Amino acid sequence: MSTKKVFVGLTAVTSVSIFLLHSYHFSWGSHHRSHYSTVSPRSSSPPEPHPRRKQTAVVFLKTHKTAGSTVQNILFRFAERHDLTVALPGGVCSYQNHQFCYPRPFSRLFVHPLTRPSRIVASHLRPGLSELRSLVPPDATFVTIVREPASMFESLFSYYGQHSVSFRNAPNRSIGAFLSRPTAYYRPGERFAMFARNSLLFDLGGDPNRDPGDRAYLRDFILGLESVFSLVMVAEHFDESLVLLRRLLAWDLEDVTYVRLNARSEASRARLTGDLPDQARQWNWLDAQLYQHFNATLWAKLGALGPESLRRELGLLRQANGRLARDCFGVAGPGPPPALQASQIQDKELRPWQPGGRVSILGYELPRNLSLPPSLATSCLRLITPEVSYSRRLLMKAAVRARLQRRNRPGLGNRPDWEGD
Ligand SMILES: *[C@@H]1O[C@H](CO)[C@@H](O)[C@H](O)[C@H]1NC(C)=O
Ligand SMILES: *[C@@H]1O[C@H](CO)[C@@H](O)[C@H](O)[C@H]1NC(C)=O
Ligand SMILES: *[C@@H]1O[C@H](CO)[C@@H](O)[C@H](O)[C@H]1NC(C)=O
Repeated sequence: MSTKKVFVGLTAVTSVSIFLLHSYHFSWGSHHRSHYSTVSPRSSSPPEPHPRRKQTAVVFLKTHKTAGSTVQNILFRFAERHDLTVALPGGVCSYQNHQFCYPRPFSRLFVHPLTRPSRIVASHLRPGLSELRSLVPPDATFVTIVREPASMFESLFSYYGQHSVSFRNAPNRSIGAFLSRPTAYYRPGERFAMFARNSLLFDLGGDPNRDPGDRAYLRDFILGLESVFSLVMVAEHFDESLVLLRRLLAWDLEDVTYVRLNARSEASRARLTGDLPDQARQWNWLDAQLYQHFNATLWAKLGALGPESLRRELGLLRQANGRLARDCFGVAGPGPPPALQASQIQDKELRPWQPGGRVSILGYELPRNLSLPPSLATSCLRLITPEVSYSRRLLMKAAVRARLQRRNRPGLGNRPDWEGD
């Protein structure tokens, strides 16, 4: 589907649903908190005497330009291996096959009926927390990920430079020009403005245009997040975050191995220098505060784990990733498999979506000269399947499963008791 079509669709839908967009000012905190105050965050605990059962109900709130695609791929593969229903977009926003009508506040109507109720949620959405809760079992674990705001902003600027009106307004599409006078180019209501200021806070359900001096707002917002999310990962400390995720969910090492997805080519990256990182943090002040808070929280949890355990678990994870790179790609050394430009990738299904302009998003292909046993080849393919293809694939699988269920158990529904309200 062409990008243009997507945008036309988005405009059409958003304009008929202005009322929904009013919950722009929705927050997890303050008045909503009372509903959720019974949900206490699970802390990273010391090793448990008995192995717990794997947690198989997980909501990953995917944020933009934060390594979220890599986490999503981990969850999609886990879901396939354990035969779990993944919530997939469908129905209302049929022009989006990989996100839930973002940036409209989430409703379960955005979820394809064949994938409701769900055990895994990992595609872009903007909360709607109570709707999200009604989609998954009551004991589902909520996690999300944040990224350092200056590098996040650089990434957003380059990825959405063509699309966000605010970014397009800047002379020469220059990030320096934008950051020198952001208020001259940024208009809150404009198309894709959500990527141009405090994008992280927006994705988590907050109001990106809140007065940065409103400390109570931010404090309540963070408290609200903490009551919902058992773990907030940090992109800069990705492997450390996965160590905590694995412990939280009682998953195996193999369940969290990964290849980094949706990364830009080196040539598409700009390094912010001079005053620019500070200006970016200043402009995204709310995000900067969120980041500081959750990075500190992450390191407090890692501290509780102890340096020895952390070192050991990081070593195990990196070894497991190395084995994967060797088995799937024939990589000899310790490093990751070589990433390719989309044009170098023969299999269309493996080409990641390209945002346009001069930005190149890299992907992978399995080496042709490596003959893998079929089951290994399949799991290697999933590891490098980009979000859009993977979502389509999972939906096809859900359709097949539904057909089989209907044939085998006519008249018998399979609505577990948490569905329905
Ligand atoms: C835009 O680019 C042109 C050509 O490189 C340069 O002459 C001009 O000064 C730039 N404008 C701004 C505002 O940076
Ligand atoms: C996150 O916090 C840790 C511990 O204080 C610090 O060492 C690290 O530099 C921080 N990460 C970033 C990217 O700021
Ligand atoms: C496969 O081809 C790549 C280069 O295309 C080469 O580096 C690698 O050694 C080859 N592997 C095998 C097993 O022949």
